[in-house]
Amino acid sequence: MSAMALEQTHVEWWRHAVIYQVYPRSFADADGDGVGDLAGITSRLPYLRDLGVDAVWISPFYRSPQKDHGYDVSDYCDIDPLFGTLEDADTLLATAHDLGIKVVVDLVPNHSSDQHAWFQEALAAGPGSPERARYLFRDGRGEDGAEPPNNWLSVFGGSAWDRVPDGQWYLHLFDSSQPDFDWRNPEVGDMFEEVLRFWLDRGVDGFRVDVAHGLFKEESLRDQVVPEGERQRGGADVNEQKSMVERTHRDEPMWDQPEVHEVYRRWHKVLEEYDGDRMTVAEAWTQTPESMARFVRDDEMSQSFNFTWLLASWSATAFADVITSTFEALQDVHADPTWVLSNHDVVRHVTRYGGGAQGLARARAATLTMLALPGSAYLYQGEELGLEQVDVPEDDRTDPTWLRTRDTDAPEIGRDGCRVPIPWSGSEPPYGFGPGTGQPWLPQPAGWGSLSVEAQEADPASTLAFYRRALAARRTLLGGPGTVEILGDHGLGEDVLALRRGDLTVLLNCGSSPVPLPEGEVVVASGELGAGDRELPGDTAVWLR
Ligand code: NOJ
Repeated sequence: MSAMALEQTHVEWWRHAVIYQVYPRSFADADGDGVGDLAGITSRLPYLRDLGVDAVWISPFYRSPQKDHGYDVSDYCDIDPLFGTLEDADTLLATAHDLGIKVVVDLVPNHSSDQHAWFQEALAAGPGSPERARYLFRDGRGEDGAEPPNNWLSVFGGSAWDRVPDGQWYLHLFDSSQPDFDWRNPEVGDMFEEVLRFWLDRGVDGFRVDVAHGLFKEESLRDQVVPEGERQRGGADVNEQKSMVERTHRDEPMWDQPEVHEVYRRWHKVLEEYDGDRMTVAEAWTQTPESMARFVRDDEMSQSFNFTWLLASWSATAFADVITSTFEALQDVHADPTWVLSNHDVVRHVTRYGGGAQGLARARAATLTMLALPGSAYLYQGEELGLEQVDVPEDDRTDPTWLRTRDTDAPEIGRDGCRVPIPWSGSEPPYGFGPGTGQPWLPQPAGWGSLSVEAQEADPASTLAFYRRALAARRTLLGGPGTVEILGDHGLGEDVLALRRGDLTVLLNCGSSPVPLPEGEVVVASGELGAGDRELPGDTAVWLR
């Protein structure tokens, strides 16, 4: 299989960028309150330049009650005091641009915080008012309307509806503090165009669009049909590490409605008015690669997260299938793919691959393979340190998923474990995360000192050193769009995925036995090679030239 990237004269930066996700609460804390902030991020930008990334995507830092750690926005055009000020944001942007790093910010258009002025006005104005029509308020069912308007569940657990004192219900596909907007109301689209322009005028290079597939719901708001014997879940679940294929054809009247694409056509036009290849990337947990591709048609968004790579099981066949189906799906719309293994919503990939030495070996191997693929690669803070998911003690957990389900018969641990603040230096918490001495907002485990940036910078065999080598090699050898071919007849056995990208042969050994390495110069390997560099051990990947 081969896949051609579009022949183009001008290639936008994001088509082949390495984009590093910063989760601001947990990256770097300049003021010492135990929560990361914008000044902290700015101070660590040289680290990101040295790591070799092209851009940062920063999770939300807007005014927010922090019920979902910033994904509950009460003012889209201001910075939460926890993170700093608009001036700090300007400094961050200017510093990043001086260092040659693009900045992508997170836009949350599906819902606001219940503390947003519009929602407060809606509560005050009462049923039938234009203020309520910006959200999805409905009367309930059953006697006195005491039952929710339909059977939808929140992604975070429990009903997707909450009742207000006058008896009406409002829809929240996430936490009850995150009411969903009614995107059929033109006021909502107009407001978000202003928000886009506010940040574009300040100089951001792009937007990661939260819940991009969720803005429109089927207009009837009918019940979701759940086949007998199946457990109903809150739609496209970000924690469920299941193959997308298993979700195919689930009835989802709350997700992926055709009308949503009009919004992205409008945003495309807005971005086109600005210089410098501004971009959008959709967070759309759609059911198939084909539905993902609809978000990146020519006149819509620039990119869509390709979660199939992250969901693939540890096998050469599974990875090959994802590569093939991704390129097949994108071929018709002429878009380039994205690749991602970790983010702030999923279990860190070292842990997903079994944890410990084997999990780390597999994580590094999957990363090296990903970095060889055409398209852009998204990294999540801390993966370059080989961090594992942390088992956060119950009393310290803060994720609304946990808070909403802990007292039910199906408790979900939530996502705190991938959000623990980064260890920068030293041998005890907060490991240089901030100037304070105590534990930050989520406790860091004992023994993280050996994983700190400081410790790993001193060790050429560290995961950090490996990431730096791999990113440097990618920049030098694979600096732009290209093609990839899956090599079928490589003779190394079915556990080995073999790819050809330009001058490189990329081998990933998903088995447990070593295989002989073909001729060629080793450019970079994810771990130690065997037999004087003539063998590729299990759980290891290599680029050969
Ligand atoms: C997806 C975000 O990545 C996640 O962190 C958030 O909780 C939900 N959307 C709701 O905004």
